[in-house]
Amino acid sequence: MDGLKIAVLISGRGSNLQCLIDATAESQYPAEIVAVISNVHGVLGLDRAKKADIPTNVVDHGDFPDRETFEDAINDVLLSAGAELVCLAGFMRLVSAGFVHRWHDRLINIHPSLLPAFKGLHVHERIIKAGVRFSGCTVHFVRPDMDAGPVIVQAAVPVLAGDDADSLAVRVLEQEHIAFPLAVRLIAEGRVRVENERVTIDGHQAPAGVLLNPTGG
Ligand code: GRF
Repeated sequence: MDGLKIAVLISGRGSNLQCLIDATAESQYPAEIVAVISNVHGVLGLDRAKKADIPTNVVDHGDFPDRETFEDAINDVLLSAGAELVCLAGFMRLVSAGFVHRWHDRLINIHPSLLPAFKGLHVHERIIKAGVRFSGCTVHFVRPDMDAGPVIVQAAVPVLAGDDADSLAVRVLEQEHIAFPLAVRLIAEGRVRVENERVTIDGHQAPAGVLLNPTGG
């Protein structure tokens, strides 16, 4: 189905892009992908988009003298594709405050931790090192500060005794693939409002129960 026009910005593997491609292929899903933009040539995510007949663009940051002209080029692609929502899905460039303001509350990111904990890179390594019992992922509106902004959806997973960064990443990624299409759907359905930098979701249903780790004894 048509619906909210989304653009997806990537830099690599594109597994989160794939889950959006799969979601938008469902007839009832209220959004469509109008552009995929990568800042890196030849990445797997571009192949995924081509396979789904989605227009792809490479805007290589190395071809521009500064961040502003790079982002202007991205913005041109977004505008000509008619994008209404921009999804950062493993896009490994920091975006400037100017770009964030242009797309205010129309720019979302997925991050593999329960923000505001563990912003930045090498998240899973740092989580294992910190010894916390839970991790997860966050889909949020983007603000000028890195990995900051109103939270739309979070999913929590336990950190298990034998985990290393790789095994934890796999468990979190599985939830990213649920959380990202959910967040886009809620936005596309017009159910997400940002007030005082907090998100309210119409018809929001919280899960029952608590998570305890370790359980019992
Ligand atoms: C994901 O873990 C995402 O949370 C982070 O970058 C990774 C991208 O993975 N921002 P993929 O390219 O979507 O497979």
